[in-house]
Amino acid sequence: RPSIIVAPSLLAADFSRLGEEMASVSQAPWLHLDVMDGHFVPNISFGPPVIAALRAHSKAKFDTHLMIEPADPYLEATAKAGADHITIHIENAPHIHRSLQTIRALGCKPGVAICPGTPPEALSEIMDMVDIILVMTVNPGFGGQKFIESQLSKISKIAGMIRSSGRDIVLGVDGGIDPETAPRVIKAGATMLVAGSSIFGKKDREAAIRALEAVRTE
Ligand code: DX5
Ligand code: ZN
Repeated sequence: RPSIIVAPSLLAADFSRLGEEMASVSQAPWLHLDVMDGHFVPNISFGPPVIAALRAHSKAKFDTHLMIEPADPYLEATAKAGADHITIHIENAPHIHRSLQTIRALGCKPGVAICPGTPPEALSEIMDMVDIILVMTVNPGFGGQKFIESQLSKISKIAGMIRSSGRDIVLGVDGGIDPETAPRVIKAGATMLVAGSSIFGKKDREAAIRALEAVRTE
């Protein structure tokens, strides 16, 4: 199986000490940054100024997850702040084809996130444009929610779509990922795990990251 990428989600960190919190997960290759607007999702987190402030203090790929509506007006600011990947939601992007082109033109890897209520077929026309597909395994907006079981079959279906595309697309999962759910999503085909509370909720973050990286599916 492909090696698993673990992306700690800073949403679960202590916001009064963001720099130190980010340093505590520096062994992970990606850092997941959840931008929320209180409109597309019922919570407000942080945006490009905070991402820009963190940028100089980390070597990780900044995996930015935009839960904002509209997203288009903020793509450039997100790229300039130092995002390496920009993932937008299929549910609020009327011209997602153009938005994904814009993200690539800005020099970032384009990603698409898909909510629990959206069918996998919604991705069919953009398989040739995305480098990352992020299956939401909770309804976006908050950390610490329970994994939604029904998303497992969607992960398998999307893994199949990726195989048929012949493209190298990272299949991420986001929400309720911990050492209990990780083996199941990996078995279904996930290759990237976003984890907030199951990493930042632990004292020993290194061990928490290692545990997710080393998950056995059998
Ligand atoms: C939820 C965010 C997630 C969140 C996951 O809307 O997109 O990235 O941080 O948190 P956990 O891992 O605690 O479910
Ligand atoms: Zn996220």
